[in-house]
Amino acid sequence: MAKQTVRDLDVHGKKVLVRVDFNVPLKDGVITDDNRIQAALPTINYLLENDAKIILFSHLGKVDHKDPEKTEANKTKNNMAPVAARLAELVDVPVKFVSVTRGPELEEAVNAMNSKEIVVMQNTRYEPGESKNDPELAKYWASLADLYVSDAFGSVHRAHASTAGVCDYLDSAVGFLVNKEITALSSALNNPERPFVAILGGAKVSDKIGVIENLLQIADKVIIGGGMAYTFMKAKGYEVGQSLLEIDKVDLANEIMAKGAGKLVLPVDTVVATHFAEDAESKVVDSNQIPADWQGLDIGPKSIELFKKELEGAKTVVWNGPMGVFEFDKFATGTLEICKAISELPEANTIIGGGDSAAAAIKLGFKDQFTHISTGGGASMEFLEGKTLPGIAAIKDKE
Ligand code: 3PG
Repeated sequence: MAKQTVRDLDVHGKKVLVRVDFNVPLKDGVITDDNRIQAALPTINYLLENDAKIILFSHLGKVDHKDPEKTEANKTKNNMAPVAARLAELVDVPVKFVSVTRGPELEEAVNAMNSKEIVVMQNTRYEPGESKNDPELAKYWASLADLYVSDAFGSVHRAHASTAGVCDYLDSAVGFLVNKEITALSSALNNPERPFVAILGGAKVSDKIGVIENLLQIADKVIIGGGMAYTFMKAKGYEVGQSLLEIDKVDLANEIMAKGAGKLVLPVDTVVATHFAEDAESKVVDSNQIPADWQGLDIGPKSIELFKKELEGAKTVVWNGPMGVFEFDKFATGTLEICKAISELPEANTIIGGGDSAAAAIKLGFKDQFTHISTGGGASMEFLEGKTLPGIAAIKDKE
């Protein structure tokens, strides 16, 4: 069922509570990547152009509420002040930061707002009730506003007070970012143009099992790379040496290989290293020739060629998870070559999952070369698993 979008709401002169995902990386209080802030600007600017009063809220990092010492340290580390300051540089209107999540200071700031102004609230996770989807907290936040808009795609897999609970008390809609993400990811899952090739990487089979199983039913080919490939190698009876291995998932890998026969494509060679380091000695070996004291850190050249061949002619590509340890230049070749091959496919719908694959694509210089790079790590993965996402399900259906 399609959801209301921000265009379906009459926002003129209204207080609009907007959940964004401004969970941006910070180093010593400085934002190192403001992509997620930039991604919410179309919705923020639309609301400003339409005379809304915007109350923005987001989580930032995690806050442990069990150990009081950790709570304070987490709060200090994950203060939203630098994020609000960055937003103020990106919009043309006043941005007021309120360093609390409830109480008179927040309420007064909200009530003093004129149209075309923004109040940014403190990190939602300062509240212990946020992650528990506490109805009292959701009701309180909803009481500050007239309408609710979710533009926090990165958080729609969380059933939290700010992402789902508030929808019980306010008319709601998705913003442009969430709408764009839903449209892009659904285009691959529902009725994809074929051939549809999925490329899945990353460290663990256990993290990707839901995606592998769902995409095996939909895609024409499912290519497996990254650390999780070694669990499949083990299932084939190969020596994997010191490579990443989930021994308790070997049977599962066998089941997947049986189910995916004819569709599943595994690496045929691997770059092995003496140890996990940028400057480790390395060499290329066939997948069944990994020496006992070496570990695989990237796919090899024969696998790159094989994967490129499988990609030839693809009309839909979903890529989730790096092919190797791309953080080390020496072991980034597999990820880089696959990134390049996907970006060069003529007229293909190319979708990159968030998290590590998005980070890899951006780090390697391919930011603008895909149809869509998701802003959600866990959220895009759960979407690709075919799961219902609570932060989308809670939004009012379009009439
Ligand atoms: C993310 O970075 O994936 C989102 O902001 C969600 O963060 P979380 O995993 O802490 O809920």
